[in-house]
Amino acid sequence: MNRIFSGVQPTGNLHLGNYLGAVRNWVRLQNDYECIFCIVDMHAITLWQEPAELKAHTREVAAAMLAAGVDAKKHILFVQSQNHDHAQLAWIFNCVARIGWLNRMTQFKDKAGKHRENASVGLFAYPNLMSADILAYKATHVPVGEDQKQHLELARDTAQKFNGDYGVEFFPLPEPLILGAASRVMSLRDGQKKMSKSDESDYSRINMTDDAATIELKLRKAKTDPLPLPETAAELAQRPEAANLLGIWAALSDSTLEAAVARFAGQPFSAFKKELADLAVAVLAPINAEMKRYLADPAEIDAILRDGASRARAISSPIIAQIEDIVGFLRA
Ligand code: AMP
Ligand code: TRP
Repeated sequence: MNRIFSGVQPTGNLHLGNYLGAVRNWVRLQNDYECIFCIVDMHAITLWQEPAELKAHTREVAAAMLAAGVDAKKHILFVQSQNHDHAQLAWIFNCVARIGWLNRMTQFKDKAGKHRENASVGLFAYPNLMSADILAYKATHVPVGEDQKQHLELARDTAQKFNGDYGVEFFPLPEPLILGAASRVMSLRDGQKKMSKSDESDYSRINMTDDAATIELKLRKAKTDPLPLPETAAELAQRPEAANLLGIWAALSDSTLEAAVARFAGQPFSAFKKELADLAVAVLAPINAEMKRYLADPAEIDAILRDGASRARAISSPIIAQIEDIVGFLRA
């Protein structure tokens, strides 16, 4: 069976955009692939993280994934730092990938900004750790959004160079898995801005930890324009807030934007918002409740993650042993 590896950073404030754009898609992949889901805390510390917050966010992401339907028994959910094979292979890849390749990574340029000289070495080498995540399991497919495509391309180049340098056919070249029309969820306060954890207004996003009353309130207050809902999808280009709310309705109901437009054409926003809130609560409230249940019992989360790490190590450790032999390391 094909093997998926996917990583998510343990940053807090998971919101509807993360759910519709990432978490929900992974849950669905579980039917067709053997899945390894990793909470990448080692990637997170390439930028400064408060230690207590890093722990809390790691558990929060785990709880969100479990609550949303990740099956940690059939598949694997674990924390990156609990399997040292990632770090071991990342070092080897630091010696395979070229500085010139990393210099071309646009995410490093974005994240380092003007203060390149002051960025951590880890931030620069980050893509090599990501290659190691994937290749330590010989994963065949990686679900990626637009922003991670360049890193996956680098993982393929690194796998190919390793195979070539050592004259082996060892690593498969991992394929990107582009998931259906990526729903980009926009801010509830500004239809032109992405819904984001870093927006200072909490009314701009629906958090996965929001209860039913909060979800309803935020959608009632969501920005709109004065017109009734449009008759055709073409009109949405001029009406970002309407487009966003109809898009959210379409994603939550698993239908299309066209179907959403047809259903609410000509209606006032007030009626549509009421239906949207009912739908959002129906989908999100059970996940929210389950997430709270997990978060109330951190020991249970930690046990699930430890079990995941031990099953992850069982897959990676024979692969790493072969890699070490190929490279010429004496076996311990
Ligand atoms: P981030 O929180 O930006 O690190 O993103 C984590 C995951 O959620 C990535 O796969 C993003 O593509 C996805 N994501 C984040 N924000 C949004 C959004 N507003 N709409 C859709 N997907 C998003
Ligand atoms: N770099 C990814 C992000 O920031 C997270 C990630 C780390 C990842 N390792 C991965 C994604 C391996 C896919 C496969 O979103």
